[in-house]
Amino acid sequence: MASEPMKIGLLCGRESTFPGAFIQRVNDLGREHNITAELVKLGGTRMDDPSPYRVIVDRISHEIPYYRAYLKQAVLEGTIVINNPFWWSADDKFFECALATKLGVAVPKTVVLPQKSYVEGVVTESLRNLVYPIPWQELIDYVGLPAFMKPFIGGGWKNVYKIHSVEELIWAFDQTGQLGMILQEGITWNQYVRCYCLGQTNIMPIRYEPDNPFDKRYVYDPAFLDTELAARVVHDAQVLNQALGFDMNTVEFAVRDGVPYAIDFLNVAPDMDYHSVGHQYFEWVVENMSRLVIERALHGYTPGAEYRWDALLNSAAAPAGSPASKVGPTHPPAPVTALLDPQEIAWAWHPYQIPGRGARPAPTDHPANAPAAAPGPDGVPEEQAAGKS
Ligand SMILES: Nc1ncnc2c1ncn2[C@@H]1O[C@H](COP(=O)(O)OP(=O)(O)O)[C@@H](O)[C@H]1O
Ligand SMILES: [Mg+2]
Repeated sequence: MASEPMKIGLLCGRESTFPGAFIQRVNDLGREHNITAELVKLGGTRMDDPSPYRVIVDRISHEIPYYRAYLKQAVLEGTIVINNPFWWSADDKFFECALATKLGVAVPKTVVLPQKSYVEGVVTESLRNLVYPIPWQELIDYVGLPAFMKPFIGGGWKNVYKIHSVEELIWAFDQTGQLGMILQEGITWNQYVRCYCLGQTNIMPIRYEPDNPFDKRYVYDPAFLDTELAARVVHDAQVLNQALGFDMNTVEFAVRDGVPYAIDFLNVAPDMDYHSVGHQYFEWVVENMSRLVIERALHGYTPGAEYRWDALLNSAAAPAGSPASKVGPTHPPAPVTALLDPQEIAWAWHPYQIPGRGARPAPTDHPANAPAAAPGPDGVPEEQAAGKS
């Protein structure tokens, strides 16, 4: 017996081959379940608008902030969004590398860098937390050469630099403007793998040739990995996608000395174009994406797989200042209605030094004692002093 009608929505950009094929396939496979698919249409969203979609596949909100805001509200209204916009918003390539090492997945050594430049209004004094100059040689000593420098949120090979010397690194850094960048060990590989990863565990490893022209990078060569390596690649891709909560992603691995190093696994609207992925993989991806959304529509989605990264956050410790905290104030908790006297909370503050100004004497340096209207009070970032928070 057919169930209640359910709709699947697709949000997409200018891609030409995947949207039509996907919508048609979902309509074909979903017919017996009363499931239909269409392009989402939007023209301003009210905060209490109910969402007509059971599942939305998002392939473009990284470029259209309105869609991202809409999708978060749609999740609140019960829609399953692939990929979950909340996980997506929390992610970047530096965090991913740090996370991967904790999960036992090999990644190149990676450093996140200060930016080259900043938004208007950020001046030298705004940057008192930064050391200058950046210790480039030390960073290169850590990652080695050749190295890659690339945006920690980015895609399409934009602003990706291959670096062979400190001089090249500094030159490239000077081109990066306000972009947040990572510097990464370059993996000299003998095999390169790009995996489609759907529903977190459905992994299709593909031979990928990054040095070929764009439309010849995906190579149909199903037996290109030996069994052991294929098993590790699939396992590592599953671990990463379960931890990151991504249902539609690609994970790239560069294989060096038999070890697959995860290179790029923040591709949450991956290329699915017929002309680049080729006939066989296009068919796989259309079929498997369609089955995924139907599966999610029928059976829902309970996030919280064993690997999800919030389990790694140190949330078990009591927050500072809470009664159970080991580092919080030692005085007895105040009645909830009483305000604490800021002077009693001395434990978190130490005399500190502003370059060129000398140490400030304790305890009168307590920021809470600074006159509120003092122009540019020391210790308060001027953006905050200017009311920008
Ligand atoms: N650490 C690295 N070692 C070897 N090759 C790399 C490394 N980082 C990037 N590359 C190469 O540069 C390409 C683009 O980098 P990637 O991280 O995928 O950026 P984007 O997100 O823009 O696609 C990769 O497909 C790979 O060929
Ligand atoms: Mg990439």
